[in-house]
Amino acid sequence: MIELAPSILAADFSRLGEQVRAAAEGGATVIHVDVMDGHFVPNLTVGPPVVKSLRKATSLPLDCHLMIDNPDQFIPTFAEAGADWISVHQEACVHLNRVLHHIKDHGCQAGVVINPATPVETLSEVLDLADYVLVMSVNPGFGAQEFIPGSVHKIRRLAEIRAQRGLGYRIEVDGGIAEETAPLVVRAGAEILVAGNAVFGHGDPKTNAQRLLRAATEAAMQKV
Ligand code: DX5
Ligand code: ZN
Repeated sequence: MIELAPSILAADFSRLGEQVRAAAEGGATVIHVDVMDGHFVPNLTVGPPVVKSLRKATSLPLDCHLMIDNPDQFIPTFAEAGADWISVHQEACVHLNRVLHHIKDHGCQAGVVINPATPVETLSEVLDLADYVLVMSVNPGFGAQEFIPGSVHKIRRLAEIRAQRGLGYRIEVDGGIAEETAPLVVRAGAEILVAGNAVFGHGDPKTNAQRLLRAATEAAMQKV
């Protein structure tokens, strides 16, 4: 099943609850929260207080994408604020095995993220610990950037490795996902699509979510 995870980065923060509910009405099943620290990525966004508010506004799982240095330090705080899924960047973790265990110990699904320049092979020793793997299809830091086509083969590779090794992680993709790019990543094996601009950037989030999901689901059916 293809899931849509709208990124609140592109939403109107003064009406966050309302916007998230509209996306959910359009079929979104996960809410993606982009956390940036101005160090790991050249931008600042939101942290645990916003997760805590969102927790009251929706019953959908909150997928916290930590684009921060030393993410390990903040896992308890995000878990306590109401995060259901927490993902950390391979590039930000010296002790990635420990960090993934730490996320699980706090009752959350553990995700590992790779930047466009990071090969899938760097994850080989932790894939058995990951509940999901997030492939960045833009360089993280900003919404509404152009999709990097080289991410498609990484998704395909992750799907192959999963089948070969009998693992169970899910494959998520983030950056530049829209009606035109969703079919490419879905055909390669992506199952969770993050989309900010395509859902919240213009028009009605409900209709946008419906359109995106339709494009993705049709591509998934062609794959079989
Ligand atoms: C990029 C973020 C993404 C971003 C996606 O740093 O991790 O989640 O918000 O935005 P769009 O869908 O607009 O590319
Ligand atoms: Zn993200």
